[in-house]
Amino acid sequence: MYYIGIDLGTSAVKLILMEADGKILNSVSKEYPLYFPHPGWSEQKPGDWMVAVYEGLQELTEGFDARKVAGISFGGQMHGLVVLDENDHVIRPAILWNDGRTGEQTDYLNQVVGKEVLSEETANIAFAGFTAPKLLWMKENEPENFKRIRKIMLPKDYIAYILSGVHSTDYSDASGMLLLDVKNKKWSEKMLKICGIEESMLPKLFESYEVTGILKPEIAEKLRFTEQVKIIAGAGDNAAAAVGCGVVGDGGCNISLGTSGTVFITSKDFSVDKNNALHSFAHADGNYHLMGCMLSAASCNKWWMEEILKTEDFKAEQEEITRLGENHVFFLPYLMGERSPHNNPDARGTFIGLTMDNTREDMTQAVLEGVAFGLRDSVEVARSLGIPLNKTKICGGGAKSPLWRTIIANVMNMEVERITSEEGPGLGAAMLAAVGCGEYSSVEEAAGKIVKVLDTEKPVPELTEKYEKKYRQFKEIYPACKPVFDLIKQ
Ligand code: XUL
Repeated sequence: MYYIGIDLGTSAVKLILMEADGKILNSVSKEYPLYFPHPGWSEQKPGDWMVAVYEGLQELTEGFDARKVAGISFGGQMHGLVVLDENDHVIRPAILWNDGRTGEQTDYLNQVVGKEVLSEETANIAFAGFTAPKLLWMKENEPENFKRIRKIMLPKDYIAYILSGVHSTDYSDASGMLLLDVKNKKWSEKMLKICGIEESMLPKLFESYEVTGILKPEIAEKLRFTEQVKIIAGAGDNAAAAVGCGVVGDGGCNISLGTSGTVFITSKDFSVDKNNALHSFAHADGNYHLMGCMLSAASCNKWWMEEILKTEDFKAEQEEITRLGENHVFFLPYLMGERSPHNNPDARGTFIGLTMDNTREDMTQAVLEGVAFGLRDSVEVARSLGIPLNKTKICGGGAKSPLWRTIIANVMNMEVERITSEEGPGLGAAMLAAVGCGEYSSVEEAAGKIVKVLDTEKPVPELTEKYEKKYRQFKEIYPACKPVFDLIKQ
């Protein structure tokens, strides 16, 4: 039988067609626009996602026996607010995970409601990209729209809703709404009240590998699928990527270098970082995880290459970089503000330390290093909690660069393992579909059988020492710039 994984990303949807043994038969990617209607805001149209998903499903299965498709599941960009009215019409464009408009609402939640209450109720504090502050923002700034809300959903759950008619979500993605009692896996009544919403507006909760419904017959017919295709809940993209990289069970680590950058640490037990610097979320394997998330990771390099250097040849730009650990230019990667660890939507991207001898390569190197240092901030928080991090898997577009993998391994002082498939969240989603359809007895079993390590980048003591010094310097730059970010705020 075949399983389809749909990874609803920020720049594109990526779909994969997988056989039961994990072999990828086909993959398709379809882009859609991202709107920045104001500096620091970030939106997308759910209708654009749907067009891309339909086209993608058709293309994906062309030339294959579509009647063998048994299940479809999802990985999706997290935290985005999708709201529907009583006729199931989308009320306004989705407000995405990297949108920074909710500074005031985030401060209200953390300072007036209080971090202790939030942490007690949801295991997390408020960050600008989370869903609850967005609901408060709508209530205050678009009261007419807010009154029309009948259904609230996350991006991938909108796709699942259109495909199956079932209003569902999974625990990993729901964890990032700041509405879920993560420990007890149920909606928090108190948080719903604070946001002025009813439980009936929220999706039904499932484990990521559970069947939520069946593909609508009219869609199945158009796609030449059978009428028995199961829809499986799926996961937030980071949890799905972790599954696709075999990071399940206890004590595993995955670094994702996508539009965002994340450090994802698995745990069989529920735990909360006492300073809430790391998110405490449910995992797609039925367990839990801690996660640090930076808002701009591979997107910093993409911005630097495409918008500033006006090139698409990322490889050529990196080939000239040879003096690792010796760069005196630093880059703060906060092009969309920053989540972990600064929780500051007003932070901004910055080059610092430039001198007349600096070259284009030094600046490209600074961008790659700045992202690695930003991720190290989250690794440091985890280490301070006594979590020994010596080894990690890596995925996402940025992980394709051997240079960036070397920089990450040495900045973190961790072994960095790449797996054979580059599909991360898409593969994880297809694996969840296979588990949901009974092909494997658990997500762990599927991961054990399907995921294989391709190569390992080992840190080199001489270089880790140099980067240790550079990281200490990097850490001083944000606090020094923060008053300026407040001053230039738009
Ligand atoms: C995680 C987060 C991002 C998005 C990217 O908390 O906000 O990684 O999920 O799609």
